[in-house]
Amino acid sequence: MDRIRIRGGRPLNGAIRIGGAKNAALPLMAASLLTDETLALGNLPHVADIATMGELLVQLGVGVSMNGAGDGAPLANGGNEGRVLGLTAEALANRTAPYDLVRKMRASVLVLGPLLARAGRARVSLPGGCAIGPRPVDIHLRALEQLGAEIDLRDGYIEASAPNGLHGAQIAFPSVSVGATENLMMAASLAVGETTLTNAAREPEIQDLGKCLSAMGARIEGIGTDTIRVAGVARLRGAEHQVLPDRIETGTYAVAAAITGGDVELVETEMGLIEAVAEKLHDAGVEMTPTARGVRVRRAGNRVSGIDLVTEPYPGYPTDMQAQMMALMAIAEGASLITETIFENRFMHVPELSRMGANITVHGGSAMVRGVPVLTGAPVMATDLRASVSLLLAGLAARDETVVNRVYHLDRGYERVEEKLAACGADIERIRG
Ligand code: EPZ
Repeated sequence: MDRIRIRGGRPLNGAIRIGGAKNAALPLMAASLLTDETLALGNLPHVADIATMGELLVQLGVGVSMNGAGDGAPLANGGNEGRVLGLTAEALANRTAPYDLVRKMRASVLVLGPLLARAGRARVSLPGGCAIGPRPVDIHLRALEQLGAEIDLRDGYIEASAPNGLHGAQIAFPSVSVGATENLMMAASLAVGETTLTNAAREPEIQDLGKCLSAMGARIEGIGTDTIRVAGVARLRGAEHQVLPDRIETGTYAVAAAITGGDVELVETEMGLIEAVAEKLHDAGVEMTPTARGVRVRRAGNRVSGIDLVTEPYPGYPTDMQAQMMALMAIAEGASLITETIFENRFMHVPELSRMGANITVHGGSAMVRGVPVLTGAPVMATDLRASVSLLLAGLAARDETVVNRVYHLDRGYERVEEKLAACGADIERIRG
């Protein structure tokens, strides 16, 4: 298993290119199931989750080509910059998303809505719990039932069918769910009649999916608001779409610049995607300014100041940036109160940050972080993507050496993380094996 070794204390200086958003790319890839024509996606990040979704789509019978090369295995090697992935679901050979893939990546459940809408049947493994909480899919299932799907849970699988096709409905989500909003937008696009989704998620990734579905011929209104109206159409066509920049990767490298007292330009991204994060960083004493190519991040003073934050659905502060901000607050002047409201168990990084000298106490969904002047390196490991990257960020600021174990968590969502940081002066290397 690969590890990453960091010798901390070097300010980052330079430019970092931000890739396409993993959490936009995954539903966009699933949307290819809605049409027999080719969906061409550009700016896909080269991360493990994208390869897993590619593998799942291939199993379902989707033809995959990179830049039209059509070698069937384009996701396994090399970066994806400047390349276009073509996904063609001409005929669906299979309608099952197996346990092995769903267990590896919960976002596999995003094939449920499109398969059901296009093929009238889908069998998708139930995802089960994961490192950040139980994460049920009940909201997806109840809403699909409202569209007329019949759903049984059997042998650990969701068995869904739509014997009479899907029909538009008024769906009020009981709480905001990114994945359920995406599954329903896709399913409703091919349903008969109009669907209204209220209490819908508004994340930029939802907006990107809406834009792509519209280019495929879907009739969708209200994208980016909490009420989305979808008028079903009989068929969708192929389209070309560029995946939007990854706002969480942007925020993560902004924290990397701040935690090391550096000066970094994040290119091919936009300030507008990370307003809630930029606001908190500003309050902490980090300067963020838009540039022609993206965003420049600089830590103004010697130490950042403690700030309080609460995670919320977009446009609130993102849960996917909670662990990274906690690493920064660990070395802030003063105390910070960080409250997690989206996931039940998203503080797995706390005991590991504490091993590096952080002073953090957790009470229920809140963590009190009392800033210390310096962290010290240690061998650490984490159980999910954002927790792992928070340890890497802490390592960049810590005295001595930090070794982050179980790097496969990082590889799920960060493209060439050690290369990007090393290019800005970090003393960081991957140890293979
Ligand atoms: C998406 O997950 C992201 N994943 C997550 O990113 C992100 O943390 C999350 O949204 C919140 O922003 C992708 O986009 C692929 P939800 P998703 O449905 O769609 C509960 C990362 O690090 N819920 O909005 O699964 C759920 O348990 C990841 O990149 C139900 O109770 O999140 C959670 O508490 C991790 N029943 C809350 O809603 C349901 O049927 C929000 O989850 C669905 C969700």
